[in-house]
Amino acid sequence: MSFDPQSLEKIPRHVALIMDGNGRWAQERGLPRIEGHKEGAQSVRAVLRAAAQAGVEFITVYAFSTENWKRPAREVDGLMKLLISSLNAYEQELHDNHIRLRVMGQFDRLPLLVRKRLKKTLDATAHYTDHTFIIALSYGSRMEIADASRQIAEKVKSGELQAKEIDEQMISDHLYLPDVPDPELMVRTSGELRLSNFLLWQLSYSEFHITDTYWPDFREEQFFQALEAYNARDRRYGGVKKSR
Ligand code: FPP
Repeated sequence: MSFDPQSLEKIPRHVALIMDGNGRWAQERGLPRIEGHKEGAQSVRAVLRAAAQAGVEFITVYAFSTENWKRPAREVDGLMKLLISSLNAYEQELHDNHIRLRVMGQFDRLPLLVRKRLKKTLDATAHYTDHTFIIALSYGSRMEIADASRQIAEKVKSGELQAKEIDEQMISDHLYLPDVPDPELMVRTSGELRLSNFLLWQLSYSEFHITDTYWPDFREEQFFQALEAYNARDRRYGGVKKSR
């Protein structure tokens, strides 16, 4: 598909994606669920490439939620192994497009091998500033907000802060990646209309694009369609529509 980012009036700086439908994609083909996840990992790569082409600075993908630990051990193990093999597969792409890898979530809860593999790419790409690829791993938004609240409470307790100084910006500043701008666009695949504990604070003003496409079928073309849908929206932040 030929896509010209110049044809769009506005490109979001940050797109967050809930990658849903891997299991159903596999099930419909009579394959084990992990095959859906593997194909989904190819979609992540396609989205990274498309985002770099379109000039999107930040991509956040919801790869593993705090709730996902409850999945059968075999699937959890398969996902952790897939994460390692995917990082190997993406590495060159990250360097070619100057993409910095970051992670958000309970890093310490991940298996040692995964942490080590992540650390290698986190370090190797830390100097890139053009694009950022954020993987939400063992991530839960309520937990993130609770963690931020605890940190702020500790500062009040120690006298570093006063309770009356707490405002929205201060809460944002205590989230996992305070320097990352809020996503302007959130994409969820496979048609579900839920946030599933993903970036609850950061998505307060974001546009949502829900597509019936299963994540393994979400590639460059579908990403560009999401950008086009975003472009057609009029964001007002609760204000009055401006007259043109
Ligand atoms: C949701 O589909 C998907 C996940 C829980 C895992 C997503 C992980 C990947 C795409 C693996 C690669 C990721 C990276 C960053 C390398 P589901 O299993 O809930 O699907 P279903 O709702 O159809 O069962």
